[in-house]
Amino acid sequence: MKLWDIYATMKNDVSYIERELERTVVSDHELLNETTLHLLKAGGKRIRPVFVLLSGKFGTYDLEQLKKVAVPLELIHMASLVHDDVIDDANTRRGSMTVKSKWDNRIAMYTGDFIYGKALTLVTELKNPDIHLILSKAMVEMCLGEMEQIRDFFNTGQSVRQYLLRIRRKTALLIAISCQLGALAAGADQNVSRLLYRYGYNVGMAFQIRDDVLDLIGTESQLGKPPGNDILQGNITLPVLYALQEPRLQEPLLKHIDEIRLNNGHSDATKALDLIRYSNGIKIAEQLADRYIQKAMDALAELPNQRAKRNLKDIAHFIANRNH
Ligand code: IPE
Ligand code: IPE
Ligand code: MG
Ligand code: MG
Ligand code: MG
Repeated sequence: MKLWDIYATMKNDVSYIERELERTVVSDHELLNETTLHLLKAGGKRIRPVFVLLSGKFGTYDLEQLKKVAVPLELIHMASLVHDDVIDDANTRRGSMTVKSKWDNRIAMYTGDFIYGKALTLVTELKNPDIHLILSKAMVEMCLGEMEQIRDFFNTGQSVRQYLLRIRRKTALLIAISCQLGALAAGADQNVSRLLYRYGYNVGMAFQIRDDVLDLIGTESQLGKPPGNDILQGNITLPVLYALQEPRLQEPLLKHIDEIRLNNGHSDATKALDLIRYSNGIKIAEQLADRYIQKAMDALAELPNQRAKRNLKDIAHFIANRNH
């Protein structure tokens, strides 16, 4: 099932969130409008607000309330992408130039900060301090995850556990709390919000593993950016860690990764990518992603019957198999 088919069942509400996203970031500052709307208009899956809306269906569904977490969550995600492209030195995102390459790093840093600020302004309209705390803790964790990634650049001796901890922080928690906060903002009971958190966390882990697999095997037209950026940056992802465990591949792969490191990312990743694609690393990483999807399904199974469950199930399947 395609993501847009799932969204079609909630078309009006998703379009409303889309309009609110734009309304929230528009200011009377010309340059900030250009930089912010540049990324907003380039699209994106809007998966975090959709998780908020679907989770909200397990309580009292009120779009006006839900929007106050749905919009901030997408904005926090967007701000983190603007900063991420500075950190990852990435020139393309969503098929367009990144803010950092169309303008420059300084503009990108402030654009990200501005979007973060707008996100926080909106969420404080909800007078529930638990929501503020959950959101700010997730932002702290995301930052820690990104710092750990920098610390572990080119560390080919890192463990799978280290990798998993990092993606938990940088990606899975934000998706987990999208589900949790949707439930909380709709006044759903604690047990329901806990289960939705568990669903979101496991889906989030699978989401980043898939993202990392796609960076190795995807095409530029699928990804909206050239593949291989992770390894050029020294970001050693799960399939690479598994490939490094294969005795025949270890030595040549270490050599190619070292060449990339010595060339400061200016080399060609083709040789390393060929070896990784040839290894079993991709398959084993996909199997682990499938195990997370299964755990997400187990959490779903415990939730009360609700039509949104069907959509959450379809999204989990989409994530495991996504090509963009
Ligand atoms: C990209 O997230 C960054 C990760 C956490 C892997 P998305 O794949 O949700 O990005 P958009 O919003 O659809 O562009
Ligand atoms: C996710 O990691 C980024 C954040 C959590 C901010 P990536 O660096 O893999 O994201 P993409 O692939 O550039 O979208
Ligand atoms: Mg990154
Ligand atoms: Mg990146
Ligand atoms: Mg990526």
